[in-house]
Amino acid sequence: MPAVVLVGAQWGDEGKGKIVDYISRQADMVVRHQGGSNAGHTVVVGDQEYKLHLIPSGILYPETWCVIANGVVVDPVILLEELDYLQQRGVRTDRLRISAQAHVVMPYHKQLDRLQEGARGAAKLGTTGRGIGPAYMDKAARTGLRVADLLNPADFAARLREALEEKNRLFRAYEAPGWDFDQLYQEFLDYGQRLKPYVTNTSVVINRALDENKRVLFEGAQGTMLDIDHGTYPYVTSSHPVAGGACIGAGVGPTRISQVYGVVKAYTTRVGDGPFPSELEDAIGEHIRQVGAEYGTTTNRPRRIGWLDTVVLRHAVRVNGMTGLIVTRLDVLDDLERIGIVTAYRYRGQLVTDFPESLGVLEECEPVVEMVPGWRTGIGGARRYEDLPPEAREYLERIEALTGVPVRVVSVGRDRAHTIERVPLF
Ligand code: IMP
Repeated sequence: MPAVVLVGAQWGDEGKGKIVDYISRQADMVVRHQGGSNAGHTVVVGDQEYKLHLIPSGILYPETWCVIANGVVVDPVILLEELDYLQQRGVRTDRLRISAQAHVVMPYHKQLDRLQEGARGAAKLGTTGRGIGPAYMDKAARTGLRVADLLNPADFAARLREALEEKNRLFRAYEAPGWDFDQLYQEFLDYGQRLKPYVTNTSVVINRALDENKRVLFEGAQGTMLDIDHGTYPYVTSSHPVAGGACIGAGVGPTRISQVYGVVKAYTTRVGDGPFPSELEDAIGEHIRQVGAEYGTTTNRPRRIGWLDTVVLRHAVRVNGMTGLIVTRLDVLDDLERIGIVTAYRYRGQLVTDFPESLGVLEECEPVVEMVPGWRTGIGGARRYEDLPPEAREYLERIEALTGVPVRVVSVGRDRAHTIERVPLF
């Protein structure tokens, strides 16, 4: 029953796309279980670059099954664009399965996302504008539309009418234009027909694969600190990027998960607003942003940069039950003379080692930074752990000591080949 959950240990953008791609090679099935098209994965295969938002990048392997499970909110416009994009580039898509229970992101969710952000003014959350929050709001309010509804014209008509009545009332309050039933109805029924060949009960599909001892990878989107329960609320997304989210979002029991790997960027980044204690608003931060090309895949916003924060990592280790770490983008730090690691925070003179629960406290926290020597040489050619310079190994071992979790994989470049796997992942 080799089921591996991969989670982001920070605020998303840890380089999961490359790692998911790397592990997908060893997997029989890759499952997306939360989030939606707010995620963005870039995968480099030789001289080809693929950018995907919804479809697991496992689709690039001809034998791997890919599942978009019930916990995902599916924007059919984006999903169909991705299917066309992959098919045009010669990628077979017949191994994709989509949950009938997944909720649908409607155009009014995207409009509402933008209106709500606008109304928040200076207190904005910095959402991706992909309608994620409003789609999950409707799911929780039990007014959402599901993929299954798109396949049933009578049900869809009734549920869409009900939803539009409420949404158009809201849009009137925002003095914004509303939505016309006839147009949306026909458009989304058409999408349903195009998606129909892929739609099924994905919990059955995934559990059957596990029963057959297939290797299943659960690919988390975003990161632990963006989890609606365990992240820096309200500066979070509306789903559960933590490992437990895989069980709920895919319809598998917790007893079926064998390993939880946390993907950790060798430094910290964040897009969107909210407190960020290890932030570097200086030349070093700018250097890391340039070398690491730290701009959002989905929104192209410059990412905020900080030193690696092990207070955040210890929190992530705990709430995910991590069994291993995967450290990415270590090569981005190649030129630095000294590298900072945040070991704790200081709050009103007190040392804080557990991530604070209150945003107010977090805002006042000063990072306690330990400086370690850099390696000042290119490490892109390293293929075994022993090939890394001693300072790079010491940096990784310091992370292990501060988190209590072993580093299983180290990524030293963008390509599949730039990966050091110390222990087999499955
Ligand atoms: P939403 O998910 O679009 O509602 O955005 C909520 C917060 O999550 C914002 O701070 C976004 O920048 C952040 N976010 C959402 N998806 C991602 C992602 O894939 N990577 C990094 N940040 C993300």
